[in-house]
Amino acid sequence: MSSAPSAPDSVAAVFSDGAVGRSVSLRGWVVKSRSSGGILFLHLRDRTATVQATARRDQVGGEVFDRLEHVQVEGSLRLRGTVTEDRRAPGGREVRITEAEVVDAGLPFPIFQEQTEEFRLDKRHLAIRSREHVATFRVKAEYLRALRAFLEQEDVLEMTPPILTGNPAEGGAEAFTIDYFGRPGFLSQSVQLYLEAMLFPHERVYAITPSFRAEKSRTPRHLTEYTHLEVELAWTDLEEMMGFAERMVADTLHTLAQRCPEELKVLGRPPDELRELTPPFPRIRYAEAIERLQAQGFHVGWGSDLGTAEERALTIEDRVPLYVTHFPKELKAFYMLRSPEDERTVEAADLLAPEGYGEVVGLSAREVSVERLTERIRAMGADLADYEWYLDLRRHGSVPHAGFGIGIERALRWVLRREHIRETTPFPRTPSRHTP
Ligand code: 4AD
Ligand code: MG
Repeated sequence: MSSAPSAPDSVAAVFSDGAVGRSVSLRGWVVKSRSSGGILFLHLRDRTATVQATARRDQVGGEVFDRLEHVQVEGSLRLRGTVTEDRRAPGGREVRITEAEVVDAGLPFPIFQEQTEEFRLDKRHLAIRSREHVATFRVKAEYLRALRAFLEQEDVLEMTPPILTGNPAEGGAEAFTIDYFGRPGFLSQSVQLYLEAMLFPHERVYAITPSFRAEKSRTPRHLTEYTHLEVELAWTDLEEMMGFAERMVADTLHTLAQRCPEELKVLGRPPDELRELTPPFPRIRYAEAIERLQAQGFHVGWGSDLGTAEERALTIEDRVPLYVTHFPKELKAFYMLRSPEDERTVEAADLLAPEGYGEVVGLSAREVSVERLTERIRAMGADLADYEWYLDLRRHGSVPHAGFGIGIERALRWVLRREHIRETTPFPRTPSRHTP
């Protein structure tokens, strides 16, 4: 534009009170365009909204009009125009362009509806501009913000534990191994052991980090890299920790319902369904879960792991999450506290999302006995020497404590009703893909 640029307006400002008749200066990307009868109709998107903008050859001049006509989908523009009421336009308003500058006309945009999923994953760096993805990652940002706000309000401190480690926290089989200057190293599966160390000086700690799982399983709920929020609280037991986690889940989803109603609707989750989630969530013991599954015809018994099909069957009819507690110790990690009343089980709980989406939170009280920890570390075939530092935590002012981890993408898959977990992360890492 020739005139000195004034501060640009957001597209959302076009829809604000009193905008009609005003001149606005916008910048953004073309979502679609068509011309008809000497008028060019553009849909212009910025981070705040999308608006229809129209250009007439006699208004903007032949040269500018020709340039605008050649702008591709996702081409970028600056324009100035007058906000006008127009019932045919989406949102009831359009911007009549008076001046325009094509920033980048762009090449033909390669993404459109009929392409295969594989192609769109190859072009993920462009596909993430879709309406669904824009809504999803806005919600994800708001969700992380809500979680941090909740934890701040609960006086829990954010820590920065390492991601490169010599200790695979959840057992070696599913850890990515790396060559750490000639020694074996791992990408973190969980920062729990480090949070446990930091709990002694800080009592209430959390971290949001990437976690890595070298699981070959190609399921709609597994990623090889995911965003993991882990919380660790001192002076806590299983029951109290479950209360904390369910309050966090409900409270932060209420915040989402309030802050992202439009995005939730775009993605097929009515915000009211999130508002209806109020703790306490129902709880059943593992033993009872097995009985329920047997009654449904599953060939399971005491000691059977609850896989995707079992978790789905337990929750498919539900509208609120379900806690399953007191698993056999063989099914769970070495650091979980043995139940005081039953030495076959551990003080652990999985929170299963409703509607069959499966586990979203893994939670437990932590074992305090050095002897039992030693036994469990040996039983998983690990080298005790690698865990000496962890055992030290039980030798210097050990206290009862508990914690949990929530997979942010898992949770969002449920909340946003996505078929596949990869839709909740911009650049999904799965066994078959680590590019783009
Ligand atoms: O149940 P998990 O394995 O528990 C832990 O890692 C504990 N150390 C957490 C803790 O107590 N600090 O993982 C926790 C959560 C799961 O409930 C699930 O939501 C998510 O992490 N998760 C995955 N998400 C996506 N892809 C995967 N492959 C996942 N594996 C676990
Ligand atoms: Mg788990």
